Amino acid sequence: MRLSVFNVLAFACALVLATHAPLLAQDAGQAAASNGSSGINLMPQPTELTPGQGRLLIDGSFRVALTGYQEPRLQRAAGRLLQRLTKQAGISFNDQLETDASKATLVIACERAGEVVQSVKEDESYTLEVTPQNAHLSATTPVGVLRGIETFLELVTLDDKGFGAPAVTIHDHPRFAWRGLMMDVSRHFMPVSVVERNIDGMAAVKLNVFHWHLSDNQGFRVESKRFPKLQQLGSDGYYYTQAQVKEVIDYARDRGIRVVPEFDMPGHSTAMLVGYPELGSAAGPYSIERHWGIFDPSFDPTNEAVYTFLDAFIGEMAGLFPDEYFHIGGDEVNGKQWKNNPQIQAFMKAHGLKNTGDLQGYFSKRVVELVEKHGKKVIGWDEVLQPGLPKTAVVQSWRGPRSLAEAARQGYTGILSAGYYLDLMQPASQHYQVDPMEGATANLTADEKARILGGEACMWAEFVTPESVDTRIWPRMAAIAERLWSPEDVKDLDSMYRRLAATSHWLDSIGLMHHTAHAYMLERLTELQPTTTLQMLDSVLEPVKGYAREGAREYTSLTPLNRLVDSTPPESENARRFVRLAADPGANQGAIRKQLTAWRDNKAELVPLMQSSALLQEDVPLAEDVSALAATGLQALDYINSGKPAPDSWVTDQKEFIARARKPRAELLIMIAPAIEKLVDAAAKSGT
Ligand code: ACM
Repeated sequence: MRLSVFNVLAFACALVLATHAPLLAQDAGQAAASNGSSGINLMPQPTELTPGQGRLLIDGSFRVALTGYQEPRLQRAAGRLLQRLTKQAGISFNDQLETDASKATLVIACERAGEVVQSVKEDESYTLEVTPQNAHLSATTPVGVLRGIETFLELVTLDDKGFGAPAVTIHDHPRFAWRGLMMDVSRHFMPVSVVERNIDGMAAVKLNVFHWHLSDNQGFRVESKRFPKLQQLGSDGYYYTQAQVKEVIDYARDRGIRVVPEFDMPGHSTAMLVGYPELGSAAGPYSIERHWGIFDPSFDPTNEAVYTFLDAFIGEMAGLFPDEYFHIGGDEVNGKQWKNNPQIQAFMKAHGLKNTGDLQGYFSKRVVELVEKHGKKVIGWDEVLQPGLPKTAVVQSWRGPRSLAEAARQGYTGILSAGYYLDLMQPASQHYQVDPMEGATANLTADEKARILGGEACMWAEFVTPESVDTRIWPRMAAIAERLWSPEDVKDLDSMYRRLAATSHWLDSIGLMHHTAHAYMLERLTELQPTTTLQMLDSVLEPVKGYAREGAREYTSLTPLNRLVDSTPPESENARRFVRLAADPGANQGAIRKQLTAWRDNKAELVPLMQSSALLQEDVPLAEDVSALAATGLQALDYINSGKPAPDSWVTDQKEFIARARKPRAELLIMIAPAIEKLVDAAAKSGT
């Protein structure tokens, strides 16, 4: 497709801007300018949005009033709204709430209390009307108010008159009731501050479930008072106290977010077995796993003491976590310990359990009974979809969407995670195009479709630390959040990327670290030397995709994650723009040439800098290849301009080189290589 003025402008900006953060800010500005009269960049896109005339100016006289139903959660939300506006606009607001609604700039009206424990049934709808005089936000429940406040805040941008929100009428409600983010805090522990800032980000994009993956082979992360050896021996000292858990749950509730805990069993349980080896299926001792992968340790489903333990443990945790759902994991049990244990084999024979899958089914059934005994419903990874699973269970489909369709057909509710794995470093566009109601589920009946509750993005933590985790979740999470909130027909990728850039910038003001952590990590790599040239290289790279890092070298949980691959964002904005420019070399010749020249010449300063840093030496071949690719691109343009085809030998040599340059080095990929190849192809056909 052809390039708009916006893309060329944004591309030109990308050339001169030093860091990623302002690049995105600039992008957002261009996006607003390019978006016709409205300049409205919201993510998720509201269900119904009607632009009005003019703008509500926001200056130091801004006041908020709460009317209708009142509760402390709403007061705190209004207080945060003022703090957030202060952060967005750099204007100090009087944080006194206005009691006289006629004097308020923003009047919030809430009809009634929400649920005592928020559930999938909570009403999250709201209406927001902004005029040049004032704004009105009304909602049935406080959670609807919370959603509307985020929309109001995202509307506030700077123009030539100052900060303000465009006149608009919005009627909004979610498409799916379950919109989550799972964070793995086992493989790398995430302190409360990291969890809370990501909960703030979740609230900003209207997510409503924080799925807390608290236990795995590499760590057990909650204080248990009944079984203290769980955290004493299974956490290296990195765990949440029960007081901290309560703090996080309250924090999330204040933001309209449920907290669903996961204790993964019977596999992924090494860390639990360190303190209680007698519950395992092989003789101990067990030690905290330091590697990544699937491991043998698992609970012994044939040992009654396991169920006595789980009864008490689940009882304790069910009391700590108020949500109606309790996640029991259930994924990736390799069954090796079960096959190697004669007593377990004898049990299977005696009970007519034909294979380890049947034995896992038996275990799940027993655990589900305990979870229900303690007043909760079960959620589990799709392996739990076995005969006997009670129909109240939610199946979390991760191995592919077929299990989601199968669960719905069998009468279970389900959520989709396959396609939403943020750790796999796929572009936002790929996640965005995954819809819980398409593909395998498209032919379900209306009743079956109604059982699909939504989806959850997953942030597995093999390759993230508290420092880098935001750079992997954001901004791509916002695109998935839109898929789960906005109407099904909101699909346009150009619109998504334009709004994502604006939202990514807005998320900085919320305290997310995706830009600042990235900038800091680059600074660390160059040890006080200017990072401009490194940024130029980094901006065309992406980490390898899928599970490629696990096979690239031996990693453990103690391996430092401080290399270039750890700071490079999952998706290269610059490469994406360049691919589009290079698709039409005739029209975009000047911009392409300017960009390629900059990339070609960058290595002169960059390579000596990289050689002076122990952490960057491995990336020198990438710098060399980006420069050479750019030179190839410039030569290709010359051939294209000549109106004659490039010589076959040149084309062959370049293609061989590009094939080498496309291979990962230092676990990084050069994302402009395919576009350079297109230019070479165009040069080969020039004049023909
Ligand atoms: C999973 O990714 N093992 C649920």
